[in-house]
Amino acid sequence: MTLTVDRAGLDLADPKAYADERRFHASLALLRRESPVHWVDAPDYTPFWAITKNEDILEIERNHQIFLNAPRPLLGTAEFDELNRERAEQGIALRTLIHMDDPDHRVIRAIGADWFRPRAMRALEPRIQELAKRYVDRMVDLGGECDFAQEVAVHFPLYVILSLLGLPESDFGRMLKLTQELFGGDDDEFQRGATNEEKLQVLLDFFAYFQGLTEARRKEPTDDLASAIANARIDGEPLNDFDTASYYVIVATAGHDTTSATISGGLQALIEHPDQLERLQRNPELMPFAVDEMIRWVTPVKEFMRTANRDYELRGVTIREGDAVLLSYPSGNRDEDVFDDPYRFDVGRDPNKHLAFGFGVHYCLGAALARMEIRAFYSELLPRLRSIELAGTPESTATTFVGGLKRLPVRYSIA
Ligand code: HEM
Repeated sequence: MTLTVDRAGLDLADPKAYADERRFHASLALLRRESPVHWVDAPDYTPFWAITKNEDILEIERNHQIFLNAPRPLLGTAEFDELNRERAEQGIALRTLIHMDDPDHRVIRAIGADWFRPRAMRALEPRIQELAKRYVDRMVDLGGECDFAQEVAVHFPLYVILSLLGLPESDFGRMLKLTQELFGGDDDEFQRGATNEEKLQVLLDFFAYFQGLTEARRKEPTDDLASAIANARIDGEPLNDFDTASYYVIVATAGHDTTSATISGGLQALIEHPDQLERLQRNPELMPFAVDEMIRWVTPVKEFMRTANRDYELRGVTIREGDAVLLSYPSGNRDEDVFDDPYRFDVGRDPNKHLAFGFGVHYCLGAALARMEIRAFYSELLPRLRSIELAGTPESTATTFVGGLKRLPVRYSIA
């Protein structure tokens, strides 16, 4: 079947298309070339504009007073959007930083911002290096063969973020399951149940857990991020229970699957480009560039959305007040107008102006942390790695939001 722009546009609302790298990128390339501001009217979804050029994504994010995160910050089915709207009216919907706009967003973001500044991150570095070593040692213990995605990559970033929050190790298993259910929401393997009610139940389980945490930290403040959130004051008042729990949810979830997907996808890229693996092993000073190239290559956050609060002209197309736009980060990160040979994995790529962390006021709060984790992991692994190859077929998660590999079977020798 010939690929038309309309079919390509529908791929943006099809979780299975995201799991098929070749098909997905063919669709995005066509949209960038022939219909960069493209109206997508997919079954089960409220229609939206797909924005696929890097420059246009930047323009929309820069105009954050026109393109708002509320009420539709990410892609869900029309039924799911409706259920969220009802919950919001009842005051029981998730309200995280990505659901907010100014002035609330600025104030709430500031509560956590200090914890993620590069200086604070540097203080965390020794602990992260220790964890990286623990997980590379674990690969050795696994005896030269493992499913890297499930047995290594999902654990390391979760461990880091939950340590930052100050949660006990005994709760990590429960958190892993909940984050996978939340972010793997469209993939049969991770779904708790098929209905929207069941999906929302996952959120409510998160809330219940974090409500207990808030109470504990208010009673007995400690020196961790969870305490900073629980005891924050805005105009002298603490955050309400839903806003507090939402803060934990965004940190625990945003900081987990994104980074683990990048670590897995980065390893697959190195295996499939042995010249780049060897180059990086010989030139460890390239590591910061390699980390950003892995992030660009994988682009684990597939989209965020904005809603226009007035008519806006983009490339001669009128986006009407109330229309939603989908910012396709994987597309922006393969844009031929910005990247030299965008489909080449190049561990020394410089410049590398990727959009994987977004842009502007919502720019990823955890970008410095994510970079440090990925750098720590590969700085530990690569000097010890003697050989590595695929031991089966890698598989990706079916999702329109955050995802990457769910299986990466590998065979290796590590000193
Ligand atoms: C927001 C990507 C890791 C916390 C975002 C956004 C993107 C993103 C695209 C939205 C930006 C926008 O709307 O312009 C990534 C990627 C990661 C990663 C690719 C890993 C490679 C992390 C980590 C944390 C984190 C480790 C740590 C907790 C957040 C938070 C927000 C956010 C709190 C919301 C910021 C706001 O709305 O103001 N991230 N992220 N992320 N990220 Fe990350």
